Order: sequence, then C-alpha cells, then structure tokens
Amino acid sequence: MTASSLTCRECGSTYPLEAHFVCSRCFGPLEVKYEEHPSAGDPDAIKRRIQAGPQNIWRYADFLPVDRVPVLPAGGPGETPGLEGLPAGVTPLVRADNLAKELGLREVWVKNDAANPTHSFKDRVVAVAAARAKELGFTTLACASTGNLANAVAAAGAALGMPVYVFIPADLEEQKILATGIYGATVVTVRGNYDDVNRLCTEIAGERPDWAFVNVNMRPYYAEGSKTLAYEIAEDLGWQMPDRIVAPIASGSLFTKIGKGFQEWQDLGLLDADASLPIMSGAQAAGCNPVAHAFEQGQDVCRPVKPNTIAKSLAIGNPADGPYAIELARKTSGTIDQVTDDEIRAGIALLARTTGIFTETAGGVTTATLKKLADSGRIGADERVVIVITGEGLKTLDAVRGTFECREIDPNFDQFEATAEHRTEVSV
Ligand SMILES: Cc1ncc(COP(=O)(O)O)c(C=O)c1O
Ligand SMILES: [Zn+2]
Repeated sequence: MTASSLTCRECGSTYPLEAHFVCSRCFGPLEVKYEEHPSAGDPDAIKRRIQAGPQNIWRYADFLPVDRVPVLPAGGPGETPGLEGLPAGVTPLVRADNLAKELGLREVWVKNDAANPTHSFKDRVVAVAAARAKELGFTTLACASTGNLANAVAAAGAALGMPVYVFIPADLEEQKILATGIYGATVVTVRGNYDDVNRLCTEIAGERPDWAFVNVNMRPYYAEGSKTLAYEIAEDLGWQMPDRIVAPIASGSLFTKIGKGFQEWQDLGLLDADASLPIMSGAQAAGCNPVAHAFEQGQDVCRPVKPNTIAKSLAIGNPADGPYAIELARKTSGTIDQVTDDEIRAGIALLARTTGIFTETAGGVTTATLKKLADSGRIGADERVVIVITGEGLKTLDAVRGTFECREIDPNFDQFEATAEHRTEVSV
C-alpha cells in the first residue's frame, strides 16, 4: 500500500506527500491515502510478508507512509542490519484475568505500550514522523508536547543524530522533563498550557522551514504510527479483532487511528470481513473532558476547556481530532467516559495490583474507565476487551505518593515480627 497523497478529511482535496497538515481550501486536517496493496486479493501472502518482518513497527511498513523502510546497512562481519532510529512497537499483549475477575468481566487484555523505548506509545508515532522527516530533507526535529512526546522526540533525535527542540507546558511532571533533557534536546518550557504551546509551535513551524514538528507540519505521518497498535493487537489475537478497545483520548489521534488500522486490515481481507469493528470506548479525565462532554451532550464538535487534572499527558483542551473520535465512538456503538482524579489514582493502583503493570496517569484514566463501564453493566457478558496502556508509571510518581505506607524498623527480628502483624494500608 504505497502512500499516494495527503487528502483533506473534510473536502477531499488532495496534496502531495510533503509537510502539509491543513487544507488550504477549507482548513480541514489532512490524512494519508494509499494505493491498493500490491498483494490485494491474497491476504495470506500479506500475512506471510508481515510475519517475516522485523520485531518492531516496521513489520507493517507496507501500511506506513515512508518510501524506504529505515534499515541501516549491515555493520561489521556477522552483524545483521540494524534499525535507523529506535525500535518502537511489538509490545506485550497480556491477558489480565485477575483484573477481569475483580471487575466481573469475562476476558480482559492489556496492551502494554509502556514497553516502548521511551516508555510510551509516542515512540510509534515519532518513528514514522522522523523517518518521513528525514526523507523530506528536514534537519531538525521538534514537537509541542504534554510530556511523553517530548521524551520520544528527544530520544529519536539522539538516535538519528538530529538536533531536537521540544516545547512543553512549564508545569509538567519533573520526571518527564528530566527524561527529555538528558538526551541532549533543547527543552523550552512555556508559561501556558498545551494549547498555548501548540499555537506557538504552529507559528514557529511557519518561520523555520527546515524544522519538522512531528505533530504539527508532520502530523499526517505521525498519526499513521498509531495504526500499528491495532495491527499488533489483531496479529496477537490470531488475526482477529477484540470486541472492544478502551483507549485514552487527548487530541483524539490515537483513538481514531486504532479504528483506521482495523478498518484497513478488514478491507484487505486480513481480518474477518463479517466481523464488526471493535466497540471503541474512549477515556478522558474529568478535568480535561472536551470530547467526553461533547459525546455525552450528543454534539459533533468539542467546546475547548482549560485543563485541570493530574492526567497531564491527556491535558489537551482543544483536541484537533475530537470530532473524529466522537464519530468513531458513535459508529461502533461505543462510549466516551470521563473519570475524576481520585478515580485515576485508584485506576493506577487497580491495574498495578491485579496485573503487575504500573502505568502513568493516562493509563489510570483508561483503567478507571474500564471499571466504570464494568460497574455500570455496559460491557457484555461475552466480550473480549483490550485496554490500551499508553505510558509508564515511573513518569508520574506524584500521582501515587501517599497511597501506602512503608514499615520502617531497626534491623532486628523482634521489630520485624511486631510490624509483620500490620497490613500496609492502601488509601485508594
Ligand atoms: C500516555 C499518553 N496516552 C495517550 C495520549 C493521547 O494521545 P492523542 O493525542 O493521540 O489522543 C497521550 C498524548 O500525549 C499520552 O501521552
Ligand atoms: Zn479541505
């Protein structure tokens, strides 16, 4: 499926595969369109080709908008060709029976995207945007970020030997700032929220023609990276779709591209043509809920909000893909819920305690949303559910501070025995 053009989602105008992101006729967002797959009509051949590919997102290169799969020539004698950049994707899909049991559900799986090189799903989108940026001759990588994207762009730039500028709200978690600057990126902290940062970056992108802002002028390529989550889930489930996906929404890009990934494979015959697309359940924080709110109100567009939530990675008050996320949730008989900060903390603890996976606040939003759906009886008795855990708990430690107490003792057995009687209190 060679990429053929960028197409406006609103009016269908087409543009060449360059660094365009907005339609000059109607200001709609641009999306990558593809030619027919050369092996269309032979799904088994396509599956074999994927299975013979590398253990990273480039096994799906036929479905991604790059001319050349980023593989370096072989190094020394006996060395196999290496990947140019960081190897994103092929993260674990883990069956979560303890979590399912606790919530009274039949079958729950966790797609653990914290297992990416910089510990969030953003490595997928950055891998694609950076590869295309190199093809288009850009010299510098940049982004507007709520934290995880900054980590991923900084690391990708280091791996590719490209200078990096990241722009973030000044009040981000310290862990995310430290885990960005260490790669040598120039970190610009902006006194404002993400929407202010994004506006500034759009302006800078116009003034710096050799800078690739992965989620601004490279956004159509960046967005395609999230389709690989759907491909991996389907491949791991034996070329089947789950009944439901629960995934977080900030700009709405990840959520909508998971839907696009399943649809593409179904259209090609890699997945059962008679099966329905998974029910798409979106998850937002109550403190930044523009998409959940519009969905609840039956509206098609989102009214921007001023974010105030511990889920800073999801704190986008004016989500670019909000209307498309709503459209997808409706089309699949899905849902978009919102959860409070206390529910987010409890969601982080629930996932950790039942699966051994420690997620950041965005995963707390997703897990709390799963619980809300289960508690309200909105998940069918026979459903196979996949929750998408998009980031790592060590990046948002403040969210779990104070949720339990350690037992400090002197190094003697009597004190240990005395304290061993007490159970650690968990307050969430
Ligand atoms: C951990 C995490 N999950 C989910 C998202 C949501 O991504 P999107 O903007 O594609 O909706 C983000 C965005 O920054 C994130 O950092
Ligand atoms: Zn248009």
